[in-house]
Amino acid sequence: MATMESLIGLVNRIQRACTVLGDYGGGDNTFSSLWEALPSVAVVGGQSSGKSSVLESIVGRDFLPRGSGIVTRRPLVLQLHKTEEGSQEYAEFLHLPRRKFTDFALVRKEIQDETDRITGKTKQISPVPIHLSIYSPNVVNLTLIDLPGLTKVAVEGQSDSIVQDIESMVRSYVEKPNSIILAISPANQDIATSDAIKLARDVDPAGDRTFGVLTKLDLMDKGTNAIDVLEGRSYRLQHPWVGVVNRSQADINKNVDMILARRKEREYFATSPDYGHLASKMGSEYLAKLLSKHLETVIRARIPSITSLINKSIDELESELDHLGRPIAVDAGAQLYTILELCRAFDRIFKEHLDGGRPGGDR
Ligand code: GDP
Ligand code: NA
Ligand code: MG
Repeated sequence: MATMESLIGLVNRIQRACTVLGDYGGGDNTFSSLWEALPSVAVVGGQSSGKSSVLESIVGRDFLPRGSGIVTRRPLVLQLHKTEEGSQEYAEFLHLPRRKFTDFALVRKEIQDETDRITGKTKQISPVPIHLSIYSPNVVNLTLIDLPGLTKVAVEGQSDSIVQDIESMVRSYVEKPNSIILAISPANQDIATSDAIKLARDVDPAGDRTFGVLTKLDLMDKGTNAIDVLEGRSYRLQHPWVGVVNRSQADINKNVDMILARRKEREYFATSPDYGHLASKMGSEYLAKLLSKHLETVIRARIPSITSLINKSIDELESELDHLGRPIAVDAGAQLYTILELCRAFDRIFKEHLDGGRPGGDR
């Protein structure tokens, strides 16, 4: 294979380029349709179902704001980039391009501050996403979008429309046919009442782009288990259900780190009398690999349509540059030019993947 960069890494870069250009173009359609053609994984679930915990387990890092109520009030587009073994982990926000965060407590604070910058210190929500990239040898290549938790009641300080506003925002992400839905449901509640499954059933009735994740297996009543859910009998999906055990609130209070938490999770499944036979297909590490593999397969299948959209973008950019001529702001012109170069590069690389791509095997 001529290219070393993963397909997911490439798509990550186009997504960021689209976002930057979106700012310039003020909602220009070429780039929003390109963005929508690119698959990503949207995390949905009720409040406190364990969404943040699942994301942190996938990343292997503590970095998300936490607390009760609606903590996630803007979508967080989280791009994970696998780097070489031994290299230093760091995070970067799109809105702070020149700053490398190596302290993940500061990442958490910046997410909070940046949320407040748009929503004010209210409990309101905003559909304007925050873009965060994490570079680490311990992640798989993946793009995940964390969304506000679905809720049934507004709390003090929130408008009555908040319940509906959150649902509409989450729906706008998951109804796109290219969206992969990570539907989080807690095992200590009846699956029939899961907000995540209710929404997934609505937008993906065949269940072919929904991954069901069952959290809090350790919190189920003694004498009960979730075998029927995990084996797909309670609610059938085309992809296998994955059970996870995240850190409990007590673990978090005791500062149990993610490495230890992953080990405890592995032990939980390996020694469980109920789930031992499923152990190799359970847990957050397995979930991360499953999603990354799926995302890559989906991208590979979409290369022809992505390539044609990129070509359309190239054409439109070229004519835009022609028309703009002299009186364009230097910045904007440079930005358009950079994106044009990016698109041309992607076009070449995608064609190589298309010509030489063996399924699943380019790393
Ligand atoms: P979110 O609101 O959906 O993002 O949920 P969080 O990830 O913040 O989790 C809500 C609470 O449930 C936190 O106190 C977590 O520690 C706890 N929690 C999440 N998943 C699990 C789990 O698998 N087991 C246990 N015991 N607690 C969990
Ligand atoms: Na739920
Ligand atoms: Mg959360």
